[in-house]
Amino acid sequence: MKKKVLLMGASGSGKTSMRSVIFSNNPASLTSRLGATIDVEQNHVRFLGDLILNLWDCGGQDAFMDSYLALQQSTIFQHVGVLIYVFEVELRNMAKDLEYYRNCLAALQRYSPDAAVFLLVHKMDLARDKVAVLERKTHELKQASDGVEITVFGTSIYDESLYKAWSRIVHTLIPNAVVLSKHLTTLARACSATEVILFERTTFLVIATSSLPPTSTLPLASPPTMSPAYSTPSSSHTNGLTPTTFSHGSAALEPTDIDPHKLPVTRYERTSELIKAFKHACSRVREEFHALEMELADFTAVLDELTKNTYVLIVVHDPTIETAALRMNIRLARKKFE
Ligand code: GTP
Repeated sequence: MKKKVLLMGASGSGKTSMRSVIFSNNPASLTSRLGATIDVEQNHVRFLGDLILNLWDCGGQDAFMDSYLALQQSTIFQHVGVLIYVFEVELRNMAKDLEYYRNCLAALQRYSPDAAVFLLVHKMDLARDKVAVLERKTHELKQASDGVEITVFGTSIYDESLYKAWSRIVHTLIPNAVVLSKHLTTLARACSATEVILFERTTFLVIATSSLPPTSTLPLASPPTMSPAYSTPSSSHTNGLTPTTFSHGSAALEPTDIDPHKLPVTRYERTSELIKAFKHACSRVREEFHALEMELADFTAVLDELTKNTYVLIVVHDPTIETAALRMNIRLARKKFE
């Protein structure tokens, strides 16, 4: 199954950079070496085995934008599953950017009216009062969208906000996301797990999370001190993957130190970012990353391959549950997910 994803926005807004961080596993620090994209760069990214993301990175220089809108409209905007439009947070000439955006949106409405639209206010690391800036930009972008349904994210290649946005975006493209979540909840029950999270193998984007009923009396995940992946979340779990996600023990994911100047992200996105950094470090010493086990004072976590395209992270708070048992359950669950 092929899904066309259009990546658009002004030149220098950071489109190719985010593509290289998410899909080519390049560190953010190397993106300054990337050259401007000439015309459209098409990439096929295999995702979860069957799903192929046909990524169209559209060079954002004015001459290219004019050509997409005047000469290549039907080619560019046909059969689009998702439009991702990137706005630089500190752009001075926002009016021109918005005009191109409106024209692209009109073309998208004509050729792919069912496409989902995601707007990224990018380079948020450069903004001082992130929450206020994002609120203002969101309002501005909603007005410019003329009633078309949009989802806005603040992103930066230098933190996990990029993973939050892209996890949400690919989630809309996964045809069997509901089934995956159901299987994951079964696995969570079998393991008496507090949390179970499914990641795509190469990008480490979050695909699904378990959702146990709110009545569950499982212990809460108190923020441990040793593992950065489970450090205190800076805000609530509104990544929008599944609204009921982790509704049991939800206090575990509630913010404990809300910083109004930081954007809300969850531990999932932070985990994606940290594991990718760890994988990168492994590859630098020519070691391949396979799995991870953590046994800390108040929880145990196992991250292991589930299928050839996914990894699963299981967190339990019951000290009597052995990691070997969790790994065996992962092995036994494999068939369901393949
Ligand atoms: P065109 O190919 O011309 O359309 O540009 P582009 O949108 O693909 O921009 P590109 O990815 O080449 O990024 C331009 C510059 O922005 C690079 O120097 C990146 O390092 C930088 N950049 C990308 N993302 C971020 C970010 O989140 N924060 C900051 N501070 N810089 C970023």
